[in-house]
Parts: sequence; C-alpha cells; structure tokens
Amino acid sequence: MKIVTDSAELRRGMAPLRGQKIAFVPTMGCLHAGHLSLIRRARELAYLVVVSIYVNPRQFGPNEDLDRYPRPFERDAALCAETGVDLLFHPDSLYPTNDPQVTLTLNPAHTLSSCLCGAARPGHFDGVVTVVNILFNLVQPDLALFGEKDWQQLAVIRRMVNDLQMAVEIVPCATVREADGLAMSSRNHYLSAGERQLARHIPEALQQMQQAAADGTCDAHALIAAAERTLAAVGLTAEYLEIRHAETLAPLTRVDDAPARAFIACRIGATRLIDNIPLIFSRS
Ligand code: PAF
Repeated sequence: MKIVTDSAELRRGMAPLRGQKIAFVPTMGCLHAGHLSLIRRARELAYLVVVSIYVNPRQFGPNEDLDRYPRPFERDAALCAETGVDLLFHPDSLYPTNDPQVTLTLNPAHTLSSCLCGAARPGHFDGVVTVVNILFNLVQPDLALFGEKDWQQLAVIRRMVNDLQMAVEIVPCATVREADGLAMSSRNHYLSAGERQLARHIPEALQQMQQAAADGTCDAHALIAAAERTLAAVGLTAEYLEIRHAETLAPLTRVDDAPARAFIACRIGATRLIDNIPLIFSRS
C-alpha cells in the first residue's frame, strides 16, 4: 500500500492508473468495522481502492469535537493495508490556502440541508460537500462508497453528484452494528463503560419503531411517542427523533404511503450519536 500526504503527489501517483476502475472510500480515520466493510466492498467492485483519512475542520462547528477527534493514524494505516487498500491519502490539509474563497453551499431553505443534523449543526453539510468535492477532484473515482449510518450525508452527497453532474457512482453500504445493535462510529470511543451501556437504547428505540410499523402502526406521531418513552425510561432524551421520507427527507405523518425512515440523534454524556432505520409498514 502506498501512503501519500499531499495533493500533488496524489495526482502524480494516480496519473498512470487512470483508465482502471477506481473505488474511493473517504474517511476521517479512527477506522472501525463499518469503514472496513466499505473498503471490502470497494475491493470487490474496482481494480484500485483509494482511501482518504482527513479530519475536515470545515465540517465541525465551533463547539464541536474537532480537537479531540481520535487520530490513530498508525493503526488506521495497518488496517487499510490488511484490508487491501492500494493507496492511502493522508493530507495535512486539503485547502490550498487558509482562506478559500470558493466553497460549496447547500440551499439553506431546502429540507435536505435544513432538517435533522443540518438544523443541529449549521454549516456541517457545506463543509462535507466542499471537502468531498475536493477529494473527488483529486482522486477522480468511478465509485465512492458511503455508509448508511450517515443517511443524511449520503442523501446530500447523492444530490451534489446529481446537481453538479459529477461522473461518480455513489455506492451506499449498510450500517455495521455491534452485537447489541449500536451503530459502529468513531465517536463510540468517547463513551465510558456506563455510557456505552446506555447507548444500546438508541438502536433499541429505533428497532421498536421498526417492529411497530411492521405490526401495523402507521401513525408517525404514535411511533415516535412510544420510542421517546423507551428512551425516557433510561433517562435519555433525543436531540431529534423523526420520521421522514427516505429520499427527500420530507417529514411524514404516516409510514404507509412513502419509503419511510426513522432518524435519531441523542447525546450520551458529551457524545452525540446518530442512527437511522427503515420503517416498512405492514397491515396486520
Ligand atoms: O463521513 C465522514 O467520515 C466524513 O463526513 C467525510 C465523508 C469523510 C467527509 O469529511
């Protein structure tokens, strides 16, 4: 595996490989089984697998965890090598100047960017699309793989690729979960043992909603209220717990006439965790 740390070197390294099918997995490092599943899928789909590790300051708000975000680079590089990555891109910065004058901005009035994490983390998705655009320009992949745990990010990136007519196929990959259902996330590292125990109630609340929809409850308000009670019983309050259209992210009042998904963000101590699940209504 080749490790490259600046953009010019990346371009030079990629030049002879153009024409081969390239799959790209952008990450912020602190790799876990979820990232490794993306890399393995990339390995199946393409001739060349490129992974980036870059903790993008532009997608963190002023009071967020940029400084404490874990950066175990040696371990990450070993995992990439073991999992069959051909090229690991690990730049110090991706912005040619400290004061870039051209960045991408999502329409703030559109549901896609104004709801869920877009509402809770102003500017977050602008930072994500700006950096993913830069990475796509450098790597020029045929495919890019993203985890469904960050469903809204996936929807925003799909929209960017569509609106800007980028020649990249976006490949979604299923959320990888711990044995008790907790979605794999680099932020799970922040949890103390007690917080980790509490965190399992997040997927539990989502699974309860999924089961209730499958058992014939179609009223979104009723599904949400029951899940909120489950969380409240263990002292948790969601930052948001909502049911939305899986593609447009428009709010839904019923889950029986559109592809529905439940979305949650919940703080456990100082750690903000997110998750989501499909809701498939069945008339019982
Ligand atoms: O999902 C992430 O790890 C990041 O948001 C991404 C896509 C690498 C952009 O910084």
